[in-house]
Amino acid sequence: MYTLEEIDHILTNFAKLRNIRREPANLYEPLDYMMSIGGKRIRPKLCLLTYNLMSDDFRNPIVFPAMALEVFHEFTLIHDDIMDRSDTRRGNPTVYKKWNENVAILSGDAMSILSYQYLAHAPEKVLPQALELFSATAMQVCEGQQYDMDFEEMPFITMEDYLGMIGLKTAVLLACSAKLGALIGGAAPEACDALYRFGYELGLAFQITDDYLDTFGNEKVFGKKIGGDITHNKKTWLLVEGIRRAAGEQKMQLEQFMQLGEEDREEKVEAVRNLYVELGVKEAAAAEILVYHRKALKALEEAGFDEENTLVLRQFAEEIIHREK
Ligand code: IPE
Ligand code: IPE
Ligand code: MG
Ligand code: MG
Ligand code: MG
Repeated sequence: MYTLEEIDHILTNFAKLRNIRREPANLYEPLDYMMSIGGKRIRPKLCLLTYNLMSDDFRNPIVFPAMALEVFHEFTLIHDDIMDRSDTRRGNPTVYKKWNENVAILSGDAMSILSYQYLAHAPEKVLPQALELFSATAMQVCEGQQYDMDFEEMPFITMEDYLGMIGLKTAVLLACSAKLGALIGGAAPEACDALYRFGYELGLAFQITDDYLDTFGNEKVFGKKIGGDITHNKKTWLLVEGIRRAAGEQKMQLEQFMQLGEEDREEKVEAVRNLYVELGVKEAAAAEILVYHRKALKALEEAGFDEENTLVLRQFAEEIIHREK
């Protein structure tokens, strides 16, 4: 079994080697930019980890498909930053800010195509299944992103709506990552499905953590501007639970703050953040993350691997929920 550091090393090297540097520069430079300012690479990591349950042979037929998940994810980030009006990502200007919206749209499209070129390196025997899984997931991510945008305009959504939305925009890609590794490694269908559920529950924990950090994180470490979600009335776990808990005076205050726009950003973020603390939403979110973490571990157990073999996966899951970036 590889350690998390070794897996990280494999992926970092791959990203360095795959520098594209082709013409026209305005199409390809943003791809290299996203790859080189590198994120946490949790999706390819997860894919390599589940593959590693079955095999130690880390060559192109697994490393390229693993990186397909990262390239696809980066494509969604480039477009997401236009949609969310976000200026900073991974501690750097977002692609649409550094170049412009048109460049971000087209280089994002190119990245989505590149992800399929990478996926095509999967072993022939499992390629049809891999393609089906990847494409269905990609479509679900689009659905989730549309719900996310639709919900911005709505005054209230239920927790069920929220979980459905983050299940689509975020959790299915982690689920797909976990399953893809197992599939390429040759795991039995039941194990593949249990690992899918593991990735899904972990993905829910991951997105609630992202919501938490967007409000309570440290900007320098997180690499994204704090308070973007509050500014745009994003229906995060915090806001959904906050609206549910607030009554009387606090309810009125929250509704008033939600009327404030970009021009009152500082005031709005500060006020809503304080309300979250007063309402106990901050603590409740931290507790909820642990609930999904436990569900993930249960699914992992159901995959039926020896406990010693899943140690690194469990370390990975632990890192995901205790992260600061
Ligand atoms: C950000 O994903 C988008 C979400 C689904 C929350 P990551 O937090 O994995 O971003 P990078 O790739 O590490 O920058
Ligand atoms: C992103 O959700 C999900 C996708 C990119 C598909 P967010 O909008 O919360 O991600 P960040 O916070 O911008 O990374
Ligand atoms: Mg978004
Ligand atoms: Mg965003
Ligand atoms: Mg976010």
